[in-house]
Amino acid sequence: MKLPSRPQDKIIIALDVPDTDGALRLLDSLGEAPSLCKIGLELFTAEGPNVVKAIKSRGSAVFLDLKFHDIPNTVAHAVRSAAGLGVAMTTLHASGGPVMMEAAAKAALKEGGDLLLLAVTVLTSMDAEQLASTGIDVDPETQVLRLAGLAHQSGIGGIVCSPKEIGTARASFGEGLRIVTPGVRPSWAAAGDQKRVMTPQDAVQAGADWLVIGRPITAADQPKEAYARVIAELS
Ligand code: C5P
Repeated sequence: MKLPSRPQDKIIIALDVPDTDGALRLLDSLGEAPSLCKIGLELFTAEGPNVVKAIKSRGSAVFLDLKFHDIPNTVAHAVRSAAGLGVAMTTLHASGGPVMMEAAAKAALKEGGDLLLLAVTVLTSMDAEQLASTGIDVDPETQVLRLAGLAHQSGIGGIVCSPKEIGTARASFGEGLRIVTPGVRPSWAAAGDQKRVMTPQDAVQAGADWLVIGRPITAADQPKEAYARVIAELS
């Protein structure tokens, strides 16, 4: 997938709504169609491939965030199905291991054309204690870098990481790795439940290629204005 050049192409709008109607209303509230929209587990589980078609028909590319984690054969087939839906990006868990990731990367190359696979490293809901309880006795940041490295070596195009890890990931893996980050908050927006936040400009400055933004835009009193304001701040 080509790197975004215009500021508005760096923004992925998170469609964190339960159904297609809600997603379309959200798009209406933004005025112009975003370059990219993220469909996650809630919306996809409820609506299936039709919601992907509905969003694409509005002129937005789709980031299908289903975080695949299974045996290599199953994940490779899931990637093939995602490619068949014509999505631009999809996610898998790096903790599925290198064989799984290589199978996924091969499937994307064969079937997906331009499909960008993104590895999720350590979920931000996991702290050192949670990790230790699963048998991983290193701090989360060390584990993030370890899994990001594995993903990179396995032919996965990019990673999803928190703003906190953008700098180290970029420094460790260079420009060849695509970086997508959530946890982005303009200075004028409420942080909400996001803890380690960064402004859109700082996240791009630190090396993020795309920013996933939900509530600062979608839950704003004037979503269209909030969207335009973030784009202006990135310009
Ligand atoms: O509303 P907000 O801007 O916080 O939305 C961010 C989006 O990114 C949501 O879809 C959320 O699930 C996702 N996300 C996140 N933090 C992570 C991974 C994903 O906020 N570590």
